[in-house]
Amino acid sequence: MGRELAKKIAIITGGASGLGRATAEVFVQEGAKVVIADLNAEKGEETARALGDDCRFIRTDVMQADQVQAAVDLAVSAFGGLNVMMNNAGIGGKFHDRFINDDLSDYRAVLDSNLLGVMLGSQRAARYMKDHGGGSIISTTSTAAQLAGFGVMAYRSAKAAVTLFSRSIAIDFAEYDIRVNCIAPGQIQTPMTTYAEPGMSPEVAARVAKATEPVMDSARPLKRKGAPADVAQAALFLASDRSQYTTGTTIPVDGGVLAGDPVNHMRNILAARARAIAEEE
Ligand SMILES: NC(=O)c1ccc[n+]([C@@H]2O[C@H](COP(=O)([O-])OP(=O)(O)OC[C@H]3O[C@@H](n4cnc5c(N)ncnc54)[C@H](O)[C@@H]3O)[C@@H](O)[C@H]2O)c1
Repeated sequence: MGRELAKKIAIITGGASGLGRATAEVFVQEGAKVVIADLNAEKGEETARALGDDCRFIRTDVMQADQVQAAVDLAVSAFGGLNVMMNNAGIGGKFHDRFINDDLSDYRAVLDSNLLGVMLGSQRAARYMKDHGGGSIISTTSTAAQLAGFGVMAYRSAKAAVTLFSRSIAIDFAEYDIRVNCIAPGQIQTPMTTYAEPGMSPEVAARVAKATEPVMDSARPLKRKGAPADVAQAALFLASDRSQYTTGTTIPVDGGVLAGDPVNHMRNILAARARAIAEEE
């Protein structure tokens, strides 16, 4: 167990599952006290129990200001303050083949949980941090915030908005010594990225996973899916004093996806040119 986060008190929204849960584990291992704020009471309680006395759970819908405020109040009353706010809760929304066919039925839910939730979490945390020595706000965006493409348009839009929002409040909150940064995960192994539909049998879900993995690999230079712990390590850096001069930026944790051109079009173009030259000879 390290002491990177000794004396730090953190809230992690969406901490009952996936990336948030892995981050809560690492934060507690590194000496932090953690409040998990999540909609899912069963998984949230279970995670807090597993992490022991340094972790508390509060059922929270990040779209509700009073519930977000209650999470901040719990961090202060149970642990004595708030140094780190990780706005991580989110939903992916439905996959739509083409936007022209999108009925927009999940548009409001996706924007409210992924964008409004981050705005409320950032604001309520900052209202406390401002008068208590500053702090670090970390929001989970996505490579989808920077890469235009098919499907999940509301998700892409919400995550892109979180990126600019976070840079804006990094400027706004700098005078209070509140740093604001984002983490942009690529495809990381969590319940969100199985591509299984609700109600799918385990056999079909396993077939779906097997079929989709190689397609996802083709889009990333590091040919493997990331682990939640990879994101937790980036969060550890942003939560700790090691990042004390880092604000207004995004750290990708994506196996190189945002580096660009994993398909390597230039190699394909040169191969096509070589074939064309060979035909003429
Ligand atoms: N897994 C990935 O590959 C990936 C990639 C890019 C971005 N992300 C982002 O990372 C974050 C975490 O995703 P994950 O993969 O761990 O998903 P997950 O589904 O495992 O966990 C998300 C958690 O958020 C909670 N949640 C959802 N809506 C909420 C709300 N309104 N209020 C409070 N809690 C709520 C859920 O109950 C769940 O515990 C999300 O913001 C997601 O968009 C994930």
